[in-house]
Amino acid sequence: MKKNILLQEYLQNEDFIVKSECAISMLKTKLQIIDADLGMRYHRKVIHSKTSRIKSYDSIVAKLERKELPENVETVKEKINDLIGVRAVCTYTDDLYEMVKMLYAQKDVKVIKEKDYIKNPKKSGYRSLHLILEIPICFQEDTQWVKIELQLRTAAMDYWAGLDYQLQYKKENKEARRISEELKEYANAIEEIDRKVLELRKRIEAI
Ligand code: GTP
Ligand code: MG
Repeated sequence: MKKNILLQEYLQNEDFIVKSECAISMLKTKLQIIDADLGMRYHRKVIHSKTSRIKSYDSIVAKLERKELPENVETVKEKINDLIGVRAVCTYTDDLYEMVKMLYAQKDVKVIKEKDYIKNPKKSGYRSLHLILEIPICFQEDTQWVKIELQLRTAAMDYWAGLDYQLQYKKENKEARRISEELKEYANAIEEIDRKVLELRKRIEAI
């Protein structure tokens, strides 16, 4: 496959990489502060783990092809919202919504888009909360608002999505298709467990 040199250069450019890394570290710090705040309020750990990634050239191109978009820098900047991504995993579903509320209240975070795949799971069974945010990166000459996708999910949603992701490239295999069907059923089981565990936590808190 012929690579788009300009797009590749843009993604490998120090300016893009440094700004992306700064946006990731700013958002992670914000999440850490929210975690500390909620931790003091609830006397328990709210965020389990945080991960981040900058989307690879290959998966950007695959996404552009899927969406039938042209392969150029402008389109990527405009249409690909998850070029930079952070994922935070929590134990309980209600904490995810509490975190969203707190993110909306931050003066230096813009919430551009909210997709609730917990209330409206995908056909695959995928559940998570997605926010497209803009974070200001202040460099000497100007302030740039950098777009970043934040995925919020419970630990159960996370291991489900992990398996689902592993199957993504094996769909032509018969056994993989069987596993995929089975996994779809477990999406419901996991939803029920998340709900019951939350109920139990609330009952324990009420004692
Ligand atoms: P659309 O194609 O318009 O939906 O936009 P999008 O792909 O940018 O957003 P979407 O919210 O669909 O997905 C963004 C990210 O969520 C993906 O890169 C994955 O990390 C995750 N995701 C979405 N759907 C699934 C799914 O069915 N299974 C798994 N494992 N992850 C998913
Ligand atoms: Mg999608």
